[in-house]
Amino acid sequence: MPNIVVVGTQWGDEGKGKIVDLLTGRVQVVARYNGGHNAGHTVIANGRKFALRLIPSGILHEGVLCLMGPGMVVEPEAFETETEGLREAGVEVADNLLVSDRAHVILPHHFELEKLWEERRKIGTTRRGIGPAYEDKAGRRGIRLGDLLRPAALPEKLALARDHYEMVCRGAGVAPAVDWAALVDRLAAFGERHRSRIVDVAMVLHAQLARGYSVLCEGAQATLLDLDHGTYPFVTSSSASAGGAAVGLGLAPTRIDAVLGIAKAYTTRVGSGPFPTEMGGELEEKVREKGGEYGVVTRRPRRCGWFDGVATRYSVRVNGVDSLAIIKLDVLDELDEIRVCTSYRHAGVTVDAMPADVEMLAECEPVYETLPGWKSQTAGLREFADLPQAAKDYVTRLGEIVGAEVGLVSTGPDRDDTILIGRSALATWFA
Ligand code: IMP
Repeated sequence: MPNIVVVGTQWGDEGKGKIVDLLTGRVQVVARYNGGHNAGHTVIANGRKFALRLIPSGILHEGVLCLMGPGMVVEPEAFETETEGLREAGVEVADNLLVSDRAHVILPHHFELEKLWEERRKIGTTRRGIGPAYEDKAGRRGIRLGDLLRPAALPEKLALARDHYEMVCRGAGVAPAVDWAALVDRLAAFGERHRSRIVDVAMVLHAQLARGYSVLCEGAQATLLDLDHGTYPFVTSSSASAGGAAVGLGLAPTRIDAVLGIAKAYTTRVGSGPFPTEMGGELEEKVREKGGEYGVVTRRPRRCGWFDGVATRYSVRVNGVDSLAIIKLDVLDELDEIRVCTSYRHAGVTVDAMPADVEMLAECEPVYETLPGWKSQTAGLREFADLPQAAKDYVTRLGEIVGAEVGLVSTGPDRDDTILIGRSALATWFA
């Protein structure tokens, strides 16, 4: 299989976990390149449900090497809770999981800083310390996993982060709430426990590629939450789009062969920020319930809206999507008619491209095309030919609107509830 990036094209929760899991049988390496335990990838395998946050979804496949790249931020306790949970479920977590020595560590003061800042900013973050950890990274005062292997230097390195944190606390008039002495011991003990798996992940990756192995790069969050390309400031703090795979893994862009974009058949968003196609009312409630649209990490109800062709078209371009997977088609099974946003109107003018300015995006009115619903069950269908005509037309139309080939349609949470569209690039990757 080519080396591919799997990337969300909306505001996250598109169902990347299932697709990564499906493709993992075709690759030898799965590498996650951004984010931390703010992500929640649900994978249903052999009738069991796994909610993965930090660990690449490939962990559920025997013989696949899972890498966590330098672009990630790792909270030690969350890492161990997740690995232990997987082991209890009978999943092997041994030398098949390696973590970058360059990945940054989420520390207790990051949670405190996020609490303080969220009270003011109200981005609606997952409150997992993600933003402050990336801030310390950019501020050159972060702690990396490799630092935990040399604990003698830890107090000095932590002092920089502590200084900054205490400066913020003084400014905000709150008492600092971190026991730094105990932290050094905890971090050192974590480093010792995981010494053999904290490695130079980029080197490992290059060695795997040199052996002719294929890599699947797994993105967390999604393009519209990307720090540079998303709906700033209502974004996460990492490079969630396909370009982030090169940066966040130390993988040369020339080694990436293809990009698989993932989109829901409608749109969801968690947290604050503009969302032009938000449904509102009873319909939104219905879609939320049918789609089980509650956050994997925070259990927050997700906001639900119609498919946003402007936003997804933008993502297709930013990521260079070669093939698009449409997820959760079955959630729309009961609707009489289905709307798709093809452009926006702003101050009487048609807008085809995603505005950079969130105030402008918030003022945009979606222009909809209305398609007939199919009013029959697509749940569990596995052949495109078996879809009702209106569902086929809907899928085809989404591809036209965003300018991408649709290679896969997902009709349910299980691995097998999947339609591969023949002759698509994606279908050849499965061949
Ligand atoms: P943070 O990543 O916790 O800093 O949150 C920033 C924004 O990204 C918030 O709107 C979150 O709801 C959103 N976000 C972060 N991770 C995910 C995810 O895995 N799925 C959906 N939204 C997410």
